[in-house]
Amino acid sequence: MPICAVVFDAYGTLFDVHSVTTLADRLYPGHGTAISVLWRDKQLEYTRIITMSGQASAQGVPYYQPFWDVTLAALRYTAERLELDWSDEAESQLMTEYHRLTAFPECSDVLARLNSDGVPAAILSNGDPEMLTPVIDHAGFTDLFTDVISVASVRRFKTDDAAYELGPATLGIPAADLLFVSANCWDAIAATWFGYTTMWINRNGHPLDPFGAQPTFTGTSLTDVLSVLA
Ligand code: LAC
Repeated sequence: MPICAVVFDAYGTLFDVHSVTTLADRLYPGHGTAISVLWRDKQLEYTRIITMSGQASAQGVPYYQPFWDVTLAALRYTAERLELDWSDEAESQLMTEYHRLTAFPECSDVLARLNSDGVPAAILSNGDPEMLTPVIDHAGFTDLFTDVISVASVRRFKTDDAAYELGPATLGIPAADLLFVSANCWDAIAATWFGYTTMWINRNGHPLDPFGAQPTFTGTSLTDVLSVLA
């Protein structure tokens, strides 16, 4: 299989969105996990509503909210829903965590190996460029990616085709020759529909989302990407 480059999803795949749990639990003891889970669920739900709804668009420009705003709105909803004693300070601290999410432990070695093998690695994420740059930098990965691609340029979140089209368009490589890697099953399946060769990283033994499509490969950690390329 002629895989020419690897395109990674960011949140949940390279960076652990649930690493916010530690701070959330310190701020709201006993609620860390509930905050983290609801926050992430609502964040993704809002991206889909924004992209799918066909909300009034000005002069043909798709309705869109930056991922930072979506993430903040989801956090505020979470605080209200869980009836937390909210403060600007807690909100600011939790949002700042998005600039310093923990990278999954195997990430660094896998990216370094791709780099040393001359395999281009890119990111294709719902995140705004202003969010992706600091979290990549914090993890020490800045020099390991050839391209950091944000859906912001097309104002469409995944799973819109316009978002996935950015990979082949930016890299100049057909989707089938790119390995798209995501730990979000729905993302891996939608990328498969789009035409990428795909790998779902199923770290927690979750069931396949039931859309009648299979990612090309399934692994349990990013290290499995190296086996596919071998
Ligand atoms: C992203 C979302 C899927 O990084 O987490 O695009």
